Amino acid sequence: MLCVRAPGRVNLIGEHTDYNDGYVLPVAISLEMRVYAQPRADALCQIYSETLDEQYTLNLAEIPLSEPLPDGFVRYVAGVAAMLQQHTGRTLTGVDATLCSELPLGAGLSSSAALEAAFAVLWDALDNLRLDRLTLARLCQQAEHCYAGVRCGLMDQAASLLCQAGHALFLDTRTHAMQHVPIPPGWAIVVADTGKPRVLTESDYNLRRAQCEQATVALQGVLGEAVVALRDISPEQGALYLPLLAEPMRRRARHVVGENARVQAFLTALHHADTAQVRALMLASHASLRDDYEVSCAELDAMVEACLQAGAIGARMTGAGFGGACIALIERAQLERFLVDAERWYRARAPYEPRFYACDAVDGASVCVGVG
Ligand code: GLA
Repeated sequence: MLCVRAPGRVNLIGEHTDYNDGYVLPVAISLEMRVYAQPRADALCQIYSETLDEQYTLNLAEIPLSEPLPDGFVRYVAGVAAMLQQHTGRTLTGVDATLCSELPLGAGLSSSAALEAAFAVLWDALDNLRLDRLTLARLCQQAEHCYAGVRCGLMDQAASLLCQAGHALFLDTRTHAMQHVPIPPGWAIVVADTGKPRVLTESDYNLRRAQCEQATVALQGVLGEAVVALRDISPEQGALYLPLLAEPMRRRARHVVGENARVQAFLTALHHADTAQVRALMLASHASLRDDYEVSCAELDAMVEACLQAGAIGARMTGAGFGGACIALIERAQLERFLVDAERWYRARAPYEPRFYACDAVDGASVCVGVG
């Protein structure tokens, strides 16, 4: 029996920047997915989700490469297996596997990336593939593109596979340069789930991405081929050239350009545990996602306000948006009080059941020891 754990993630800052070659700063959180797997002698996988009470069978020798793709969560597993097989030229080992997850579904905490990461690490260990974590993350991202139809960036898969305990992961999604950035030990991370299910459709997300690509093409017309993605636009260039773009491309691009600059400023603020600056940057990020990128909603806005009213250092929506969760940073000494006050404040203003999770920053996915 092999057991693999893979964490969900929250992003401290750097939202909707990863598919623009930009910067992100996610944290792997202590809400995890676990897979218990028994290898088989053939290429069949019987996969049961305890959390969903759903069971699927997948034949690794016959994974469909185009529609109709399997329905349900097994789609992600099929995607990871297909990408690993394509990359290595091997047929993977079949497994009887049981999944259980502490990750709330639809809360924007990347349960799908955790599922992908868990199976990637599982097969890497079972079949002795010896692929590095960045390669695994990129294969999982491709699985998401091809099997879930979401043209996501690399952030979620990288966070679930590469983070280190006690640290956020600064990732340059163009060069893949990484830095593990310590989180001030006196600060707690709270995931504040609005209870409003994330209604992100693939089309909302893919539309934002397409608008960024349109903005890039228009800026290339003015600034030349050196502009490969919105990452290449500095705030100074943004002030000069973004007004030339049509709406909504101008506002979408303004968010991305501003957000990349905020991630860099956030690194310095985190290093100095500068609460005023962290707060200002998180609030600016949220406002930009709400007004320019238009991916927030009334409940996310209310939750950010609830967290601030309850004494958070800073708070903002996290993940793709359109519902889901906020991240708040809180002085540890104030955590208990915060949880009570934020919940009371939010409940008085929104009709959904909120949930608050005080999370540790944990290591990326790993094979669990001592399970046998
Ligand atoms: C989703 C995607 C990520 C990223 C975020 C927004 O979580 O999977 O790649 O784009 O949205 O920052």
